[in-house]
Amino acid sequence: MCGIIGYIGEDDAVSFLIEGLRKLEYRGYDSCGVVVEDANGNTELYKTKGKIAHLEDILANNIENIKGNIGLGHTRWATHGKPSKENAHPHFDCEKKIFVVHNGIIENFNYLKRDLTKKGHKFHSDTDTEIIAHLIEEFYEGDLLSAVLKSLELVAGTFGLGIIHKDEPDKIIVARRGSPLILGVGKNEMVASSDVAAILKLTDRVIYMEDNQVAVLKKDDYKIYSLTRERVRKKPEKVEWKLTDTDKNGFPHYMLKEIYEQPETILNAMRGRILKEEGTIKLGGLESVIDKLKKMKRLIIVSCGTSYHAGLIARYMFEKLTDVNVEVEYASEFRYRNINISENTVVLAISQSGETADTIAALKEAQRKGALTIGLVNVVGSTIARLTTAGVYNHAGPEIGVASTKLFTSQVLILLMIATLLGRFKKLSMNDGLNIINALENLPSQIESILKQSDKIRDIAKKYHKFPSFLYMGRLFNFPTALEGALKLKEVSYIHAEGYPAGEMKHGPIALISPNCPVMAICPKDSMFEKMVGNIKEIEARNGKIIAVTTEENGILKEISDEIITIPETIEMLYPILSVIPLQLFAYYCALYNGCEIDKPRNLAKSVTVE
Ligand code: G6P
Repeated sequence: MCGIIGYIGEDDAVSFLIEGLRKLEYRGYDSCGVVVEDANGNTELYKTKGKIAHLEDILANNIENIKGNIGLGHTRWATHGKPSKENAHPHFDCEKKIFVVHNGIIENFNYLKRDLTKKGHKFHSDTDTEIIAHLIEEFYEGDLLSAVLKSLELVAGTFGLGIIHKDEPDKIIVARRGSPLILGVGKNEMVASSDVAAILKLTDRVIYMEDNQVAVLKKDDYKIYSLTRERVRKKPEKVEWKLTDTDKNGFPHYMLKEIYEQPETILNAMRGRILKEEGTIKLGGLESVIDKLKKMKRLIIVSCGTSYHAGLIARYMFEKLTDVNVEVEYASEFRYRNINISENTVVLAISQSGETADTIAALKEAQRKGALTIGLVNVVGSTIARLTTAGVYNHAGPEIGVASTKLFTSQVLILLMIATLLGRFKKLSMNDGLNIINALENLPSQIESILKQSDKIRDIAKKYHKFPSFLYMGRLFNFPTALEGALKLKEVSYIHAEGYPAGEMKHGPIALISPNCPVMAICPKDSMFEKMVGNIKEIEARNGKIIAVTTEENGILKEISDEIITIPETIEMLYPILSVIPLQLFAYYCALYNGCEIDKPRNLAKSVTVE
């Protein structure tokens, strides 16, 4: 939520900031702004309600005024104060000398604001962020760093901050607690941002700042400090993502691009990790804790959104392949529960971004109670990647579409790989392992074959996109797939949808069945096929419309369904990976026909870094 960016160097700051903000826009897009400062401390500030494109239009009319090699930018997802020009960042102090961009929440801002107001400070916005500019003003005595450090002592909450001062136009100060912040080290230029994607244009040499650190960035130098002003030495590391990974590469939307990337992301998740001759999996990131994992009796998976749905599928996988009991928890609930962490309990966090606030808090709670924590994370160097003792990366490249697609399939795949690896130490035979591996290896071409049906799925979406409500149903492995399909439809096309285990339909949802509420039935020929057919017949008997995702082109489902989307055959545990792809495409095309902003759905943000 919210993206910040700062630039200092020899180039035109504003163009870099705008380009960076475009890459950060997925983090929030209700308002935005930039401030640019020249070497004499002259500043130009532009803010607006709405998206970056709007800001660009405003800047285009003033471009000759915006000279300067230092600047800050921000794209907002409102927490305190509604989306408006006044509440857009950068915020400033009374004298308009200090400018601040912020990602996070200042929890004690009301108290601080009251105090600062008493001292005569005048506020221009309803935001929590603005108090930081005024606090720094209050403490400033010619040394910006010390004023920032004194201010941060008083602040409770989370922040990724960028700060400039007119009187010190040779530096940007950035600070981090609980919100991501990455420095990019270029040649005679330095950048800071909430996401690597916004840095790649300038450099692939980055430093991941830790919590409670502050950095002073000059164009040819950076110094990192603790909040007590002790120097921290950190060298840049090279990022594996390329600039082109963050482009749409000819697709109209990131969501569609990312759906189409799945054959490749599945391959990337497997690359170098399959030991065919041993019928098992090798995950380097778990080797340091493998003895503890072998003894694990209970696995608690914590995650949010789509990552939570992947966790639900893992529960069935672990049950089938290992002797571990698995619980899957919404991180936002887990963090406030009082769960007993017994010996041999491991907590696994699943997170694309590695920055989801609730998942981080859940992990910290688990660590406090003594659990070994591991992660399944896509973003290298992210908070969850660093907080956990060990873990596995997805290597799926950046996911920018707010609705997660390629990460879901990558997560499900890696969770099966982890279960197989552990299963092979116990109840799984070499042949069992090999069967799984063979099925894994077929996935990329099977996904390709589903993607080739895109036109057909588009036609189905054309027919159904005006329906007000949908039910999605599946059983066992495909119950979480139903949840995920319904989530996709809600997120991008704003059509109401609910996912249900098909066996539960009779306990309520079947009352909703009418010609106006179609059912998406996920029904491959697996152990639950006959049961699913029974459930679908019950819908048919009540005049419900049925779209079936199945492996059977010409069987019974053809007779009782209105539409059939076929997927190739695989092992039961892998059906979610294949069956979710038509659901992703269906949601995408419904959104397209409904004229929705697919990559930036209303009210959502990709990276939920506030509670
Ligand atoms: C947001 C995103 C979802 C994502 C969820 C969890 O809601 O819009 O796509 O699944 O956060 O994010 P994480 O990065 O922890 O997987």
